Amino acid sequence: MSQISIKYNGPLRGELTASPDKSISHRAIMLSSLAEGISHINNFLHAEDPLRTLEAFRQMGVDIKIGTEANELLINGKGLTGLSQPEDVIDCGNSGTTMRLMSGIMSAQPFSSTLTGDSSLRTRPMKRIITPLTQMGANISSGKDGLPPLKIKGGKLSPISYKSPVASAQVKSSILFAGLYCDGITTVIEPGKSRDHTERMLKACGADVEIKGLEASVKGMAVLKPLDITVPGDLSSAAFFIVAGLIVPGSEILIKNTGINPTRTGIIDILKMMGADIGLENKREVSGEPVADIHVKHSKLNGSDIGGELVLKAIDEFPALCVAAAKADGTTKITGAAELRVKESDRIAAMTAELRKMGVVVEELEDGLVIEGREDLKPATVKSYGDHRIAMSMIVAGITSNSETTVTDTDCVNTSFPGFMDVLESLLQ
Ligand code: S3P
Repeated sequence: MSQISIKYNGPLRGELTASPDKSISHRAIMLSSLAEGISHINNFLHAEDPLRTLEAFRQMGVDIKIGTEANELLINGKGLTGLSQPEDVIDCGNSGTTMRLMSGIMSAQPFSSTLTGDSSLRTRPMKRIITPLTQMGANISSGKDGLPPLKIKGGKLSPISYKSPVASAQVKSSILFAGLYCDGITTVIEPGKSRDHTERMLKACGADVEIKGLEASVKGMAVLKPLDITVPGDLSSAAFFIVAGLIVPGSEILIKNTGINPTRTGIIDILKMMGADIGLENKREVSGEPVADIHVKHSKLNGSDIGGELVLKAIDEFPALCVAAAKADGTTKITGAAELRVKESDRIAAMTAELRKMGVVVEELEDGLVIEGREDLKPATVKSYGDHRIAMSMIVAGITSNSETTVTDTDCVNTSFPGFMDVLESLLQ
């Protein structure tokens, strides 16, 4: 188990590219595998989470070649009905996206499969997908309280119109993927607009997708066309550098080629609300996704109240946002974010405990946190809870102090951002 020790080493200056988008990388493998023909994926995220998805489809007979660059993939899709039964259990590792999205696909196969994962994933709620998939006719058995492993006996599914109690792109995508196998139209209605990468990519594959406000529908039984896409940089990974650039005096950085899908830009809206100097330059569209270069300058941040719609648009960025709040002037109150309790770790409890070790006054709420900003964060030994986003957030907190902070259990960074430390060090020189 590795650890990283870090302290203030000057401002961050220069250009970087964040690691490729994780959500889009997973979906690119899934839909390319189900398409008919050869898909080309450029700038795939070659990191532990999407590699779990890649291995799962290889286990089901899909020919996936990695190009001369590790992030170039050539996938020879087998069509909706061409997957073969995996000989072994599918190990989704730490990846909730792999497990939840694949469950929709596995539910429709003419064979049985078992999906499991690491100790974190095996504590994450799966009833949210088991309930709708069962309504479609899926046969899924799980551990106690709907926890993994999931044993899925695939079969014929029927379309549904599902009003989801939770705004979740993983739930929505799982149902839409199952809907690809249904005779008719499958609809998901969400209480809030979750990320829409699945809908965009399904359209690129030629599927008949309709979006009406919070409703997303897909017509089943279509032949999917192969993809030729370039994955943008991941705003969720860029978030650590955005916050670092804002809180370390004298910093100015440009984060190139970053996805700015409007369902994901809550981090930018929230930080701007707190006084951040963030500019979006060179806005363009790449493979159906909006992309920009993000210009960040050190700024004085003010505490703010964060709740409502913005929470969903920034759901993965709260660990980083908590660090920004810890360095802001005044109090930041985050509410309506109970979903943070069922991510790769309980991120409310984790950020409360670890920021307190750095001298920050934090009140833990059931659905959020109240953080009193302070001038200096005290150096400390803090832990990651095996959660990549907690690890990277605490490393960012560590670079603000003149004495060394140690973050333990940092191997998890590789689930979404291998090379994170190299990028950080390149900006500190
Ligand atoms: C994801 C959706 C979100 C997000 C996760 C990735 C996706 O989860 O937190 O990191 O790729 O669909 P929920 O669907 O649980 O909100």
